[in-house]
Amino acid sequence: MASSETRAQVQDYYGTQLQTSQDLLTNACCTDDVPLAHRRILAQLESEVLEKYYGCGVCIPDAIEGITVLDLGSGSGRDAYLLSKLVGENGHVIGVDMTEEQLDVARRHIDAHTVTFGYSKPNVEFRHGYIEDLQSANIPDNSVDLVVSNCVLNLSTDKDATYREIFRVLKPGGELFIADVFADRRVPETLRQDPILYGECLSGAMYTEDFRRLLLRLGINDYRVLSSRRLTINNAEIEEKVGNIGFYSLTVRAFKLDIEDKCEDHGQVATYLGTIPGQPNKFVLDDHHTFETGRPMLVCGNTAAMVADTRYGSYFKVLGDTSQHFGLFDRGTAPVVASVDALPGGCC
Ligand SMILES: C[S@@+](CC[C@H](N)C(=O)[O-])C[C@H]1O[C@@H](n2cnc3c(N)ncnc32)[C@H](O)[C@@H]1O
Repeated sequence: MASSETRAQVQDYYGTQLQTSQDLLTNACCTDDVPLAHRRILAQLESEVLEKYYGCGVCIPDAIEGITVLDLGSGSGRDAYLLSKLVGENGHVIGVDMTEEQLDVARRHIDAHTVTFGYSKPNVEFRHGYIEDLQSANIPDNSVDLVVSNCVLNLSTDKDATYREIFRVLKPGGELFIADVFADRRVPETLRQDPILYGECLSGAMYTEDFRRLLLRLGINDYRVLSSRRLTINNAEIEEKVGNIGFYSLTVRAFKLDIEDKCEDHGQVATYLGTIPGQPNKFVLDDHHTFETGRPMLVCGNTAAMVADTRYGSYFKVLGDTSQHFGLFDRGTAPVVASVDALPGGCC
């Protein structure tokens, strides 16, 4: 099937067929753990925005006050409005989506949320565009601090172009933080052609190893997994169709940094200062790096760069640099992902 046809089917699915999240046929687009701070903000959002939420995870990292965030496939705007509150009046949120019906819902609640949040002017906007070509939404090179996306990238008909665009628009040191559906093997073409399976965020899902290879091709040599949840699907007919393919909702972060494909030991030590708003006790970088406040941790060069050469830098004290080398970091390698069950996160 031509990619334009798949895209039109996705637009129809989200623009016409689904009216609310109750209409979804599987539980692929479902989120379970919502942090308390987010729940408090969600309680302030307009009901139409919440009813048309089709995300599969939490894709909002810490320390985002005052930054520029791009939400790819912003849908009815649920995450964009959450972000609007969290970045504060001086931050800026841009939602991009290709489906006019979704954009209409998101846009009609801008004024109400501006009033609810007590802002003098909106800090959020919704642009029509394609995630494979962010020029279509006028997003310049190196202009965004954070790209988020919730259950959308699997729907892209050209993953290479989408990820290329993400790392084009991110500023150096900028962060990609996504919740998305991945598969533990390549999904056969016959299933990819099924509009329901594709629309439900299943058959467009990338095999995790192909995702790793794609990022490597783009020079993104290390990424980190924060959480992994196997999807149960909860629809007998669809379960039978997908057979033994395991689908997972993963939360993943990657940075636009010049880092290595393996974790190298330079004797660097990082200490979290406890200063990120709302995180006085710890900072979770990924599923195997939790920094306790004030506790120095020996880290590989990649982890050191992630907490020093990004917006997290002001919340960490990092000792040492990469001028000395002590061999491979003793806890392992960069993302070699045999299966999603064994996802090691990026490294170490
Ligand atoms: C599963 S919904 C998720 C929406 C939103 N992130 C949320 O959490 O509610 C997928 C959204 O991505 C949009 N989308 C899918 N493919 C796209 C593409 N190639 N370019 C732009 N938007 C796309 C759809 O229009 C739809 O609004």
